[in-house]
Amino acid sequence: MPSFDRLKPFNSLPDLPPKINFESPDLLKNSIKAQRLLGELKGSCLRLPDPKLLINTIMLQESKDSSAIENIVTTQDELYRAVIQIDDRVSPATKEVLRYREALYHGVEMVEHKGLTTNTLVSIMQKIKNTTQEIRKGAGTRLLNPNTNEIIYTPPEGDDLIRKKLFALEKFIHADYKGLDELIKMSLVHYQFEAIHPFADGNGRTGRILNVLFLVHQKLLSIPVLYLSSFIVKNKSDYYRFIRNVTQKQEWKPWIMYMQNAVAETAELTLHKIEEVMRLKEHLAKTVKEVLKNTYSSELVDLMIKFPYLKINLLERNDIAKRQTASVYLQKLAKAKLLEPMRFGKEIYYINHRLVNLFAR
Ligand SMILES: Nc1ncnc2c1ncn2[C@@H]1O[C@H](COP(=O)(O)OP(=O)(O)O)[C@@H](O)[C@H]1O
Ligand SMILES: [Mg+2]
Repeated sequence: MPSFDRLKPFNSLPDLPPKINFESPDLLKNSIKAQRLLGELKGSCLRLPDPKLLINTIMLQESKDSSAIENIVTTQDELYRAVIQIDDRVSPATKEVLRYREALYHGVEMVEHKGLTTNTLVSIMQKIKNTTQEIRKGAGTRLLNPNTNEIIYTPPEGDDLIRKKLFALEKFIHADYKGLDELIKMSLVHYQFEAIHPFADGNGRTGRILNVLFLVHQKLLSIPVLYLSSFIVKNKSDYYRFIRNVTQKQEWKPWIMYMQNAVAETAELTLHKIEEVMRLKEHLAKTVKEVLKNTYSSELVDLMIKFPYLKINLLERNDIAKRQTASVYLQKLAKAKLLEPMRFGKEIYYINHRLVNLFAR
């Protein structure tokens, strides 16, 4: 058993897989349920006419919640304004949330073209943190309890050692372990990445992007949509506790079951959200047509689904119409109560409350 002292770098962190019985009935039972729900989500995404469009707001929400786990907090209102245009009034936290979303999209491309490797993970962290830093070199990275400032974990030290452990993780991801369920594998990988903690900051967020990239890589999802962080935000103290108990007591089962439940619950939730967005799109297609008559364009409805807030120059930038006409469209939609105008500074935003409400808590 590796000796563990929370105050000393955990250089003896063992490589995966741990020696536990992955075929115990409760793990298998949980896996079957999570796999089934994830399969339904995948199937539904494959049938979507325009998945990228429909999942846009869900991905934004995932970025918001995954960042919130790390106390990077923004409001829906500011985020929805910023996503259609970053300006100098946008707070650093909101910018960081939007960078998370870019990092997620970037990660998908990286995996597709270069595979799921250490470089991919470094590159994701660099996007989130807007930095050129790489793997930690010096000593001093520690995980603190935010309430007491007590040290709860000291990750391995030395960039050679960290690279070695990441390489072993990469090999584990790509190895074919007969009989090892993919979702159990994902939970092992997420733990291991967090325990290696290769970066000075951004490990939690990079690790959560890694989860969904892993699912896409293993073909359990066709697109990187799983609103997993909504579960973790709600069950954050368990998340921390179960990770800690793996390190301290090799107590894997509660951790694995936590992740299985997270996948099951959020696969169902995500599927629900996609269906609601789709229904909203149908409703808007019909009502916008009634309002705009022969000036109706499906591209405008697409924008209304992609962004919770609209404004004149968004329509202009997307070649829906020139300024004057775009303004008339938005005013007509507001008069028909499909959008609600709201002034912020010099700008008027048109809020699509039906879309906003799908993600309000
Ligand atoms: N005991 C622990 N051991 C290893 N990793 C942990 C432990 N507890 C929490 N973590 C992970 O560390 C993350 C926070 O690390 P950090 O580098 O600050 O990430 P971020 O910058 O994304 O906030 C948590 O989200 C969690 O995934
Ligand atoms: Mg942090």
